[in-house]
Amino acid sequence: MTAPTTIVSAPYVARVPPRWRNEVEGVLIAEDQIARRIRVMAGDIARDYANRELIVVSLLNGTVMFLADLIRNLSLPLRLDFIGVSSYGAGTESGELVFTKELRLGVRGRDVLLVDDILDTGKTLFRVLGKLRALRPRRIKTCVLLNKAARRVEAVEADYVGFEIPDVFVVGYGLDFAERYRNLPFVGVLHPHVYKRARQRRCPDRPRSACGQRQG
Ligand code: IMP
Ligand code: MG
Repeated sequence: MTAPTTIVSAPYVARVPPRWRNEVEGVLIAEDQIARRIRVMAGDIARDYANRELIVVSLLNGTVMFLADLIRNLSLPLRLDFIGVSSYGAGTESGELVFTKELRLGVRGRDVLLVDDILDTGKTLFRVLGKLRALRPRRIKTCVLLNKAARRVEAVEADYVGFEIPDVFVVGYGLDFAERYRNLPFVGVLHPHVYKRARQRRCPDRPRSACGQRQG
């Protein structure tokens, strides 16, 4: 499903803390659209995995809201585990990946559903899929809330996609910039002045790729 490319300023703006109001440009995907889409996705997943026990592996920290809503709609026997990733790079660019939490469940011979918030350059899913495949699961499928296809660098696609979105930096519904905005109940667009300013403050004379750390 493609998210509308025009950004609407809905009554949702009232849900943005006043301090963030000139930082969040508008709502890209509203709360009720997200909820409806996740119910459909959960139905598709449940159908594809009927009668199988699933191991859901979710990437920290951005999946927090998506995961909670997805699995509560998923009527399948499942077990849940997390992998922590963070990337070193400028605020909105992905850089070198570092694992901050390793998987604890054994996935050998199991059906794995890997969940992430957004598929952007594809570097994160590519690295994590490589790591998981080495553990010899029966099958791995991937599920993301958002897909920013325009920025793909690695040849990786998700099996289940909530929304196709344009090349804008989004926050809210778990997604952050510098750990902020995760608690917004909708997917919103971050005003570019926020990350341009942050980059200048942190690393005034360093290249974009050598600045700061971001948590998945
Ligand atoms: P990728 O490795 O470039 O595909 O990026 C994946 C990770 O970068 C996601 O798991 C997010 O944590 C983060 N990310 C990418 N694009 C955005 C965005 O627009 N907003 C917030 N986080 C993003
Ligand atoms: Mg993430």
